[in-house]
Amino acid sequence: MCSSDLPTRNLPAMAAIASTLADHDQSQLLTPPPPPEKQEDFLAKLKALDYPKLKSTFETSLSQSGESRNLAPFKDVTDVASLSAETAAGYRADGLANIAQGKTCALLLAGGQGTRLGSSSPKGCYNIGMPSNKPLFQYYCERISAVKRLAAAHAGVDEATVRLPFVIMCSHATSAETIAFFEKHDNFGLPKDQVIFFNQGTMPCFTLEGKLMLAAPGELAEAPDGNGGMYVALRESGVLTRLQKEGVTGIFQFGVDNCLCHVAEPTFLGFCQAQGADCAVKTVAKLHAHESVGVLALVNGKPEVVEYSELSKEMAEATDANGALLYSASHICVNWFSVAFVAGFMDEIAAGGMPWHVAKKKIPTVAPDGSAVKPEVPNGIKLELFIFDTFPRARKLVALQVPREEEFAPVKNAPGSSSDSPDTARALYSQLSRRRLLAAGATVSGDEGALVEVSPLVSYAGEGLESYADKALQAPVHLEK
Ligand code: UD1
Repeated sequence: MCSSDLPTRNLPAMAAIASTLADHDQSQLLTPPPPPEKQEDFLAKLKALDYPKLKSTFETSLSQSGESRNLAPFKDVTDVASLSAETAAGYRADGLANIAQGKTCALLLAGGQGTRLGSSSPKGCYNIGMPSNKPLFQYYCERISAVKRLAAAHAGVDEATVRLPFVIMCSHATSAETIAFFEKHDNFGLPKDQVIFFNQGTMPCFTLEGKLMLAAPGELAEAPDGNGGMYVALRESGVLTRLQKEGVTGIFQFGVDNCLCHVAEPTFLGFCQAQGADCAVKTVAKLHAHESVGVLALVNGKPEVVEYSELSKEMAEATDANGALLYSASHICVNWFSVAFVAGFMDEIAAGGMPWHVAKKKIPTVAPDGSAVKPEVPNGIKLELFIFDTFPRARKLVALQVPREEEFAPVKNAPGSSSDSPDTARALYSQLSRRRLLAAGATVSGDEGALVEVSPLVSYAGEGLESYADKALQAPVHLEK
């Protein structure tokens, strides 16, 4: 189509864009033409794109995606069970002191879309079906309140004086609904000035041949730029500077879909501090060779996470002389970064210093005649940055392995799926609550399958259940403060 054929309010601007697009072989973005009411925004968007950079990013990512890498197991993992009681208590005390001094923030990655879960709302709004019917966001907020209380008691200060900022990364897909949800629920009990939202960036979607795509006439197909978008977004939003000004020195980062995540867990914080690490990874042992988790490995000699999709069958199944998996230290998206480490390489990252990962996806688009296309096979490519691609830059990276049944219950797949579903997460939450009550001396009778829920406000990690020592409880149980 010639630019003069376009129904347009601003012919010169449209002609200029049409010419730019033609120069970069992207003229398809004007077919079908943008409807008049979308023209202004669409033209501004197209004008702002750096076409040569997008082209080289696409080509480089594709050429790197098949590159062979020299992998070796990452062995420097400390099993929390191997720590002496004294060492573990020391780490925990240091972590609590660190929280009481306001040196830690909790950072939630909540920009991903819950496509696999089959929900159109932000994943954190999802109710996994425990007796309380709490959404995932609420569990995390309550764990923050609970750990603040423990830190205050440890330091002998008033709980209200403890600051533990909760920083939530959203995307254009999740931001408005997430913020409204927190407002509606009064930040689930957290002080408003300690709940901070910021948005990650977006990346245009490409056809398999590298052409930019339309989501609708006059609307570019875009997707969140991956959880590694956190770094640039922390800086561009001003949140990094704010944290630095507030005296925060460490970031406890976690994903939105692990309902057992012990947010800002003190033993881990104390461990990171004692090791003088730049960043740290909480791991659990892989359940089986083909579990859908990334694993810590040495890639070309440096620590990195290798995604399940990028680990060959042979590597996934490789074992040592005792039959243990060589690549077992699973990345559960619970990490810690020193603020100095994050701030230190910002310029490098902003200049394109992180690799883009290629994901072939079914991307809804529009045909030249304007009809909607809902593809049944992957028709395009999303490029994503990964949170762990800064690990190789760390002067020192440490890993702490924890029991998965206490800290990892992912909610990834739709209800009814046999793994990583709301059903499996619910069962894991319930079993943990039951075990903690039994350990405290309570008895829990009733159907094995009946749910048991101990609120994080009652107990953060098993403490505080003394008053249940002689209680005979009948499942279902729901203990709330
Ligand atoms: C992720 C990890 C994988 C780990 C697994 C454990 C990455 C890249 N992969 O895989 O190594 O074994 O969790 O459960 O971290 N997110 C954003 N913005 C985005 C994309 C994702 O904030 O653009 C957030 C999600 O909301 C979620 C987290 O990042 O909190 C993980 O993303 P997801 O796409 O669910 O990663 P997985 O493939 O499950």
